[in-house]
Amino acid sequence: MASQREQWNSRTGFILATVGSAVGLGNVWRFPTVVVQSGGGAFVLLFLAIVLVIGVPAIIVELTLGRRSQKNILGTFLILAPGTKWWVAGLFSLVAVFVILSFYSVIAGWAAIYFVGSLLGIFSGLETEGLTLLFGEIAGHGFLSLLAQGIFMLATIIIVSTGITGGIERWSKFLMPGIIVILFMLLGRTLLLEGALEGVLWFLTPDLSQINLDVALSAVGQVFFSFSLGMGAILTYGSYLSPRENIPQSAILIGFADVAIALLMGLIIIPALFVFNVQPEVGPGIIFVTLPAIFNTIPGSMVWSALFFLMLTFAALTSAVSLLEVGVAYFMDARKWSRRAATVLLGSLIFLIGVPSNLSQGIWSNVLIFGRDFLDLMDFTASSILLPLGGFFTVIFLAWIWGTENALKELNKGASTFMWGSGWAFLVKYIIPVAILYIFVSGML
Ligand code: PHE
Repeated sequence: MASQREQWNSRTGFILATVGSAVGLGNVWRFPTVVVQSGGGAFVLLFLAIVLVIGVPAIIVELTLGRRSQKNILGTFLILAPGTKWWVAGLFSLVAVFVILSFYSVIAGWAAIYFVGSLLGIFSGLETEGLTLLFGEIAGHGFLSLLAQGIFMLATIIIVSTGITGGIERWSKFLMPGIIVILFMLLGRTLLLEGALEGVLWFLTPDLSQINLDVALSAVGQVFFSFSLGMGAILTYGSYLSPRENIPQSAILIGFADVAIALLMGLIIIPALFVFNVQPEVGPGIIFVTLPAIFNTIPGSMVWSALFFLMLTFAALTSAVSLLEVGVAYFMDARKWSRRAATVLLGSLIFLIGVPSNLSQGIWSNVLIFGRDFLDLMDFTASSILLPLGGFFTVIFLAWIWGTENALKELNKGASTFMWGSGWAFLVKYIIPVAILYIFVSGML
């Protein structure tokens, strides 16, 4: 018995859920971290260029494929190119889901700890040095950190098992506006700190000599990560769309919202790094040191930081949900598992895969593979390898196997005036595949 596929209840619900998928730790934690590691303004410039040329067009690619096939990431290839081996491309994405969510939940767990910690006032009055030590203790505290990761995965499992349109749509609606309010408040606070200007300039002035292929590869990786591209999340959300939806318009909105929040975060964190003299070696923890330092300069710091870390945890949750949904959709469509069974099984498995990433921040911190700790290795494998490759194959598939004519026909159902259709087709056929492949191959060498 074929059951009816779920559909979004409203356009706003769809947009907010997709923005919810895009906006998460990638914007708040990863973006400022990569900017610091990759030379400031030059990276930001490259990032924006890649957003325009690859990011937004690729959102259109995934939404179109998903809406057309009404299937999961593997099923899409099977339906649109039956009898071929293209489904293997979907496998890349499926693997990426496991890899990303496994370490994503570790960091999200820290955000949750910082929420509770704010309420308990554990970092009130601490300066940079104390905050750095505290972060090391929390991230390295095996039990606490694993507990937080487990609770976060449990929350993800609960939301995904209640279904995509109910749980996810509803949550996203009040979260996004709340985050924006707090971010603007933080921005005002950082910019008024003495010495902030230096950081702002470093963030905004591109020093072109810093640009090289490594930086370009991280920028591509960051765009894919932040836009939730290359692993089927956007495609899967697209599969719950009705033909009336205007895809290009939605893609622009989603891209804009995501970039705006990333830039806002950069403008908050980077100047604060200068002001509080936080050393970039702190690594993935920079926001967990910098943000409490900013909060400590505001009256009522406990309330604000509790609110912020609560929001961050939720923002991570809406992203984690979209990741888990990719796998769940596959096992439901293809293997006929029930939603609940698929969610619980995959969620638990992903928790287990995340354990080494978690321990790598504490007792296993001296285990380095290719010079990276395990969490960093997972992040690198996903963002710099799996996502660009997944994105590359998806774009090639749409452009050269399914065909841009078919795609434009699908797109025009909900956007009869997609004026830039031929421009988009050109990008998708030639520019994007060549750009990704060039950057990927040379960045790897
Ligand atoms: N885009 C999310 C973020 O920025 C992370 C994510 C990646 C979510 C891939 C889904 C798929 O935090």
